[in-house]
Amino acid sequence: MADLRLITHASELLTGQGVRAREGRHVTDDDLGRIEDGAVVYSVKGRGRLGEIPGRIEWVGPTRDLPKRYLKLRARNLRLKQAVVPGLVDCHTHLVFAGDRSEEFALRCAGASYEDIAARGGGILATVRATREASAQELLELASRRVNEAWGYGVRTLEVKSGYGLDWETEKKCLEVVRLLARRFPEVAFRSTFLGAHAYPKDRSREEYLRELLEQMLPEVARKKLAQACDVFVDDGYFTREEARRLLGRARDLGLQTKIHADELGDTGSASLAAELGCLSADHLLQISEEGIRALACSETVAVLLPGTAFYLKARHAPARALLAAGARVALSTDFNPGTSMTLHLPAVLTTAALYLGMSRAELFAAVTYNAARALGLHDRQGTLEPGQDARIWVLPFSRFEESYYRFAWAPAAGAR
Ligand code: NIG
Ligand code: FE
Repeated sequence: MADLRLITHASELLTGQGVRAREGRHVTDDDLGRIEDGAVVYSVKGRGRLGEIPGRIEWVGPTRDLPKRYLKLRARNLRLKQAVVPGLVDCHTHLVFAGDRSEEFALRCAGASYEDIAARGGGILATVRATREASAQELLELASRRVNEAWGYGVRTLEVKSGYGLDWETEKKCLEVVRLLARRFPEVAFRSTFLGAHAYPKDRSREEYLRELLEQMLPEVARKKLAQACDVFVDDGYFTREEARRLLGRARDLGLQTKIHADELGDTGSASLAAELGCLSADHLLQISEEGIRALACSETVAVLLPGTAFYLKARHAPARALLAAGARVALSTDFNPGTSMTLHLPAVLTTAALYLGMSRAELFAAVTYNAARALGLHDRQGTLEPGQDARIWVLPFSRFEESYYRFAWAPAAGAR
C-alpha cells in the first residue's frame, strides 16, 4: 500500500480541470479550477533526493470538505501562505552538455549574430566538441546539478534532448545519461528526445551523416529504447524540410514520437510540416507564417514557444496571440541550452511570456502544465491535479500562482520543496 499524504489550507489550489476539459485551447480564468483554502490527498512511493516520489492524486477540494476518512492523516498545513499547482513541465531542454560558451555570449553582446558565430565554428559545434570529450560521469554530474536547480523552480517533468554528439558514441552517451538521471531522480519524470539532426558534423559529408541517422542511429535509438521521440532542427544551414520528412517518417515507423525545431531563425514552412506529419509539437516558431499558424491551429500538434530564446537572441518574439486566437495549443518552455537560452528558470520564462507574448494567467498556467505535458504525450497522467492523475505537485513559495512570474527570476530558498 502506498503512503498517503495530506496538504491542507493552500492559499489557492489550481487544479486546471477546465484546461483539460478544453484540451488546452481557448483557456480562460474559469478553467483554472481555482480552489481557495484548498486541500489535496495523494499517495507517494517513497522519497528521492529532492522530494517525494509521486503516486496518484486521491482527492482534491476545499479543506473544509475533506472527507472524514482522511482526517487521521498528518497534514502539511500551508496556513494560507502557499499555493499549490500541478508540477511544472519543462517540455524542451538540451540539459545534457559540457563546455562553456560564455565567450560567445560576450561576442553576441558586442554585436555578432548567432549565425556569424556558428559560421566561425562556434555555436552548436563548440558544445559538440566539449560534449564528445566529457565522460558519461561528468555529464551526469553536470546534468544532476541542473535537475536540482529546475526542481527549485517547480519543475517536476523534464524533457531532455540529445544533439550535442552528432556521432553515435556521443549521442548514445547523452541519452544514457538521461536514463541515469531518471534512476537518480525518481521523483522527476524524464522524457528523452533524440536530436541527432541538430546540426551537420564537420567530420563527415551531409549525405553520409544523413544516411547514418536514418540507417544506424534511429534504429538503434528505437531498439534500445533510448528516447521516446525524435526531433529535427529545420533551418537554413541545418536540416531541410525534405530531410526532416524522411527522418521523422523513419522515426515514426520505428515507433518514436516526433517533434520539430521549427521556423526559429527563418520561415522554412516547418510548422506546417509538423502539423502535416502529426508531430507532438512544433517548437520555437519565431518566424512562423500565417499559413503555419493556421496549420497548427487545425492540428493536434502543440505550439511550444520559447520566449527565453527570443529574449536571449534579441530576436522577434513568436506571434503567441495570433496562435492562441486561431485556437492553437500553446506550451512554454525554457529551451535550456548553452547557446540561445542559458536558463532553467521556467517561471522567469513565464514573466517574459506575460510581458512580451501578451499571455494571460490562464494561458500561462496551461502552457507549463497540461499543454506542456501534451507536447510530451503525457497529458493522460500529468498536467492537472485531479483524482487518478500522477501526484506531481508544486507547493509554491508564494500565496498565488501569479507571484511566481510577477517576481522576476526569484531564487528558491535553500532546502525549499
Ligand atoms: O533550441 N535551435 C537549435 N538548438 C538550440 C540552440 C543550440 C545551441 O546553440 O547550442 C535552440 O535554440
Ligand atoms: Fe531547442
